[in-house]
Amino acid sequence: MRIKAAVLEEFGAPLTIQELELAEPKSGEVLVRLVACGVCHTDLYTASGADPSGYAPTVLGHEGAGVVERIGEGVSSLEEGDHVVTLFSPQCRECIHCESNQTNLCLAIREQQNRGYLPDGTARLSRGGEAIRHFMGTSTFAEYTVMPEIALAKVSPEAPLEGACLFACGLSTGLGAAINTAKVEPGSTCVVFGAGLVGLGAVIGCRLQGAERIICVDLSEERLGLAARHGATETVVGGFDTVERIVELTGGFGADYTFEATGNVAVMRQAVESARMGWGLCTVAGVAGKGETLEIVPRFLITGRRVAGSSFGGVKGRDQVPQLVERWLAGEIDVESFVSHRLTLDEVNRGFELMEAQDGIRSVISF
Ligand SMILES: NC(=O)c1ccc[n+]([C@@H]2O[C@H](COP(=O)([O-])OP(=O)(O)OC[C@H]3O[C@@H](n4cnc5c(N)ncnc54)[C@H](O)[C@@H]3O)[C@@H](O)[C@H]2O)c1
Ligand SMILES: [Zn+2]
Ligand SMILES: [Zn+2]
Repeated sequence: MRIKAAVLEEFGAPLTIQELELAEPKSGEVLVRLVACGVCHTDLYTASGADPSGYAPTVLGHEGAGVVERIGEGVSSLEEGDHVVTLFSPQCRECIHCESNQTNLCLAIREQQNRGYLPDGTARLSRGGEAIRHFMGTSTFAEYTVMPEIALAKVSPEAPLEGACLFACGLSTGLGAAINTAKVEPGSTCVVFGAGLVGLGAVIGCRLQGAERIICVDLSEERLGLAARHGATETVVGGFDTVERIVELTGGFGADYTFEATGNVAVMRQAVESARMGWGLCTVAGVAGKGETLEIVPRFLITGRRVAGSSFGGVKGRDQVPQLVERWLAGEIDVESFVSHRLTLDEVNRGFELMEAQDGIRSVISF
């Protein structure tokens, strides 16, 4: 079929809206009609050429939600009309990692996905006979996409897809960092660095876990205001002295749990040093720039602080994204407040501009 999609033709240049050919889903694959898609940093990171593993031409987009249009042979967990959230982090339920409760990093299709292909090593996207590679296994800046069944989470049809798409990446990452990775305990003190979608998700996750104090650190007063609306009990404008301020606010000790959601390695270091002696756990969710390293004075570790990384919040997507969406529908998570701009696919580059200007939390493309 012919579809309209936003193509990354050349790094550093705006995406161009083009007509492409999309082949039918093969065995184990599903054709999804996109209804909404968030514009995320990872799309911009790849579009800019900063990502060393990036490739072009490709169709970007990975925060998608839509409706199953057709299923390929052997697909048993989805049917036509199901509402789905796309997963750049799939869940095959069979590999050694899927069988472990310690990680969500499914191994089933990693290699082909990283190279831009569906699991059988070929692409469904093409243009004049030339294959166009998929991005993050999702390529959701498009009217339709073909994805493996194991990379689609079936969610309640009652959830508006415009909000559901945020669970495809940033929001689940933050929620999961607090709920799955850190397993925040009731009554604890938490510090969240960064109040973008990931950090705000972590603030909500801490609140849902029953944290008593949630201190949010950001540079923007406006974003700190939003953090307070979502459950932060205290807010701090970030700076060189943030660690001292956190230690002061926590009786000289630091916090039980800290979360880093900025991608800045200096802030990661602050997050480690703001964790409490004895048992403080620092969870790093931000993605650092190419070649950057995190500096930690070993004494902080010897004296009982721990550091954990979190990819997609440790969320096993097919099992847990539907559960998180249910918590939204139950009124525990205010998702609507994160959708700051609604764009058409033709306006996708505007989504990048708004993100660079830090105008709003998320721009969502509606199809
Ligand atoms: N681990 C994962 O699976 C995963 C998934 C999605 C995004 N990410 C990463 O998470 C990070 C956050 O994503 P986002 O979409 O929320 O980004 P965002 O840019 O919307 O938010 C980042 C926030 O950090 C704040 N900030 C910057 N410098 C700061 C400082 N010195 N002190 C305190 N706050 C500071 C900014 O003001 C901003 O509000 C990014 O690095 C992103 O790439 C990781
Ligand atoms: Zn993302
Ligand atoms: Zn797996």
